[in-house]
Amino acid sequence: MGYKIAEAAFRRKHSVVLISGPVGLKPPKVKKFIPIETTDELSGALKKEIKNADCLVMCAAVADFRPDKTSEKKIKRRKKITIDLVPNKDLLKEIVGYKKSKLFIGFSLETEGLVKNSKKKLKSKNLDIIVANRLTKRHNPFGCNKLDVIIMDRTGHSLYINNKSKTYIAQVLLDKIEALWYLERKD
Ligand code: CTP
Repeated sequence: MGYKIAEAAFRRKHSVVLISGPVGLKPPKVKKFIPIETTDELSGALKKEIKNADCLVMCAAVADFRPDKTSEKKIKRRKKITIDLVPNKDLLKEIVGYKKSKLFIGFSLETEGLVKNSKKKLKSKNLDIIVANRLTKRHNPFGCNKLDVIIMDRTGHSLYINNKSKTYIAQVLLDKIEALWYLERKD
């Protein structure tokens, strides 16, 4: 989804910086591509790039936890192993101080309470728009091209999109972002 949004935004002549974890896709043509592997690297790149941005689209599925300890060496077979997980920082909350008049767009993934939980995240993460994704056995946004999403904005408007491609959803989302941007700057 991130690649589709970056590609569509670049085609609309936006100056796109794409920060991406390792995925099995060829990155689209953008102004600047920044590969990252860890949440710490993503956090560092975000804090640097956000200063010059008008809009952040945060569709990375950031892991909520990471292993407390990592090993450079192979961990040999044993009877049982326990991996302690520690929480990752919430990156959107970490960069809230940079927001000011910038537009922040988030994504949410829920297995239950999609509308209620996504509205909560829209508020608590100080977002302008959230794209709500349902995860069920029948509907899995990872790797699947046709999606059902709800695009919710901070004015309370919700747009339901059913069974549409990621390319289509990227275009609708960009229309929304651009409308919000120009609406706020009409004076
Ligand atoms: N996000 C973030 N930092 C994290 C986790 C998520 O910035 N450590 C961002 C995601 O990129 C997304 C939004 O927050 O834009 C919502 O992510 P989601 O995984 O749905 O929610 P969480 O905040 O992780 O909450 P929970 O897993 O409890 O639903």
